[in-house]
Amino acid sequence: GVDIRTLRARTGAVTYDPGLANTAACRSAITYIDGKNSELLYRGYPISQLATNCTFPEVCYLLLYGELPNRGQKQQFSVDLTYHTLLHEDMKKFFEGFPASAHPMAILSSMISSLSAYYPETGERNEAELNTRRLLAKAKTIAAFAYKKSLGQPFVYPRNDLSYAANLLHMLFAVPSEPYEVLPVSEKALDMLLILHADHEQNCSTSTVRAVASSQANLYASISAGVNALWGPLHGGANQAVVEMLEQIHADGGHHQKYVDKAKDRDDPFRLMGFGHRVYKSYDPRAHIVKETCDRLLDDLGIDDPLLELARKLEETALRDDFFTERGLYPNVDFYSGVMYRALGIPTVMFPLMFALGRLPGWISHFRELREDAESRIWRPRQIYTGPHRREFVPIEQRP
Ligand code: ACO
Repeated sequence: GVDIRTLRARTGAVTYDPGLANTAACRSAITYIDGKNSELLYRGYPISQLATNCTFPEVCYLLLYGELPNRGQKQQFSVDLTYHTLLHEDMKKFFEGFPASAHPMAILSSMISSLSAYYPETGERNEAELNTRRLLAKAKTIAAFAYKKSLGQPFVYPRNDLSYAANLLHMLFAVPSEPYEVLPVSEKALDMLLILHADHEQNCSTSTVRAVASSQANLYASISAGVNALWGPLHGGANQAVVEMLEQIHADGGHHQKYVDKAKDRDDPFRLMGFGHRVYKSYDPRAHIVKETCDRLLDDLGIDDPLLELARKLEETALRDDFFTERGLYPNVDFYSGVMYRALGIPTVMFPLMFALGRLPGWISHFRELREDAESRIWRPRQIYTGPHRREFVPIEQRP
């Protein structure tokens, strides 16, 4: 009859669980993953059905509110996301302060954090809804402006007649006084990639958003922390790392077996980027969808990318090897997504930003769920102390 909190307080017992691999830190009704059976559900719907039948804003709505929108809700939500795309003109000055070589992830996280200066929490009615829409709409404008800044090109303002994905492509690639039309195949492919990244329960960046939000920090501060957590090569930086790895192997003669062997060598820090996952110990269901769509997109665009062939060969070679199958190491969502981004003309440095834009509705949904959760407490894990025992202070003249 004694609950876990009381038991812990009485005994001082703690669980040592590096990386919190076996610790459920919250209850959540948003996303379900069955890592053994390659299953991923958003609010109960299989990812393959959503990727085929929905638009990204519809999936945002589903994650945020728990149900797919009806026609009226879908229309209103899309209008809201368009309405809030512009940034405060003063914010454009921030971009001028960054060096042209700045990684756009540094710009994205800083600018999201600074949105809290423009839209501070005041407790007004409907504020949470408004901030949710502002953030979803403005983040893609920030991402596109960060890219334009790195090129030294003028910013391209959002076009309100375009869909979320098409507007993003427009802001990234249009240049003043030259016609630019977003290809429907590119728009569809990007929309689908955003859907596939939209949520993935307690991954590193989402747990970071929850950890920061648990101190009751505001939405923008919490999400900005999530962007930074996503930046690392073991998480959202993996799509960039995959393409860099494929380029390196290609430049080195494309010897896939050599690199599979290298990844197996325990004395070599090299890992097959885009392989392995904390939860999936079978094929990542998103990777299946990306692999198929990637084939189709390259066909439609008439692109013959040697990196796609190389990725396929690496996968085949690795999956014939017991080292990978015994450890449950299969391609994850990022193994093929980088090749798709390349086909869309998106430069490698922007890949993690594409991931961040996709993951945004997931982060916001978790932030909102935590705020409404009566069981939520400030995140404060324990540790196993390994430092020196108590000792007496040594005055500086007596120190060796
Ligand atoms: N290549 C070669 N060996 C690997 C790889 C890999 N990509 N990933 C894991 N292993 C091996 C490890 O060496 C370890 O072997 P051991 O048991 O003999 O020591 C075993 O598989 C388990 O690996 P861990 O690192 O303990 O697994 P963990 O769950 O901590 O890490 C992670 C998961 C970070 C995804 C890891 O697989 C990895 O580094 N992959 C490459 C980076 C990557 O693709 N990240 C994207 C993740 S998905 C996402 O964010 C969308």
